[in-house]
Amino acid sequence: MNLSGNTILITGGASGIGYEMAKEFIKNKNTVIVTGRNEQKLQKVKAELKDVVTIKSDVSNPDDVKALYEQVAKDFPALNVLINNAGVMLEVNLQKHKLSPTDLTKEIDINVKGTIWMIDAFLPLLKKNKNAATVIVSSGLAFVPLPISAVYCATKAALHSYTLSLREQLRNTDVKVFELAPPATETELLAGFNPGDRKGVSVMSVQTMVAAFLTGFSNDKFEICPGQSSQLRFMSRFFPSFILKQLSKPVARMHAAN
Ligand SMILES: NC(=O)c1ccc[n+]([C@@H]2O[C@H](COP(=O)([O-])OP(=O)(O)OC[C@H]3O[C@@H](n4cnc5c(N)ncnc54)[C@H](OP(=O)(O)O)[C@@H]3O)[C@@H](O)[C@H]2O)c1
Repeated sequence: MNLSGNTILITGGASGIGYEMAKEFIKNKNTVIVTGRNEQKLQKVKAELKDVVTIKSDVSNPDDVKALYEQVAKDFPALNVLINNAGVMLEVNLQKHKLSPTDLTKEIDINVKGTIWMIDAFLPLLKKNKNAATVIVSSGLAFVPLPISAVYCATKAALHSYTLSLREQLRNTDVKVFELAPPATETELLAGFNPGDRKGVSVMSVQTMVAAFLTGFSNDKFEICPGQSSQLRFMSRFFPSFILKQLSKPVARMHAAN
């Protein structure tokens, strides 16, 4: 993929990985649209990255997805890259929680349904344009779960599987299908987690992670697994019980805290 001259939509681009991608793509002379649910965060991004287009839109709301598609198809008909980055991650004690049924599965609504709905809506536009691509942001935790975030990891494993199928189904089109599986990356997503659970985890800076993504994207590397994400993939294949045991250590801390 070319790193310049694209029209790119990034879901969840008001912070973290999506924001850093937006910044880099703007630097490289692309037209960049970012979405998110929080108008104030979007206004801040607009003030910082002057050339960015911001649109308030929730990927887990089908009406928002439809309205977003209509607006983008009308105002940015050259859209050729869709980056499905929006995501949330919760720690949930499955034996003892106070979440409503809807909140218990909201990661599925945002991470999985949101991605599938966005791709379904935007595929006709991507197919019309040259040099088209979609990127699915999964996680190193797609390959082996971190049990304290059981639903999150299930969503990322689902996205990995969906991406493999999507890539095969789109082989007869010009739309390339990328999976970015970030390792632990220093963003707001990790802020709510216990720092003690990070033993043995090297948290990547968001700049380094996005630089690795851009290198993979520009080389048409369809599965991009920076840093420890690639190690998780390797360990899940060759030492699955060992790596699951390592990632299960925070369960004891979670039980003690509840
Ligand atoms: N950081 C890591 O260690 C790590 C590791 C592996 C994978 N990832 C993945 O990387 C992606 C980006 O996460 P991040 O680390 O950059 O965290 P982040 O800073 O929290 O970014 C997530 C973004 O998604 C947006 N978002 C959440 N729900 C949304 C919805 N329903 N509709 C539209 N936007 C929504 C959030 O904005 P609003 O709340 O304003 O909507 C936020 O800007 C996620 O898919 C995450 O699972 C992160």
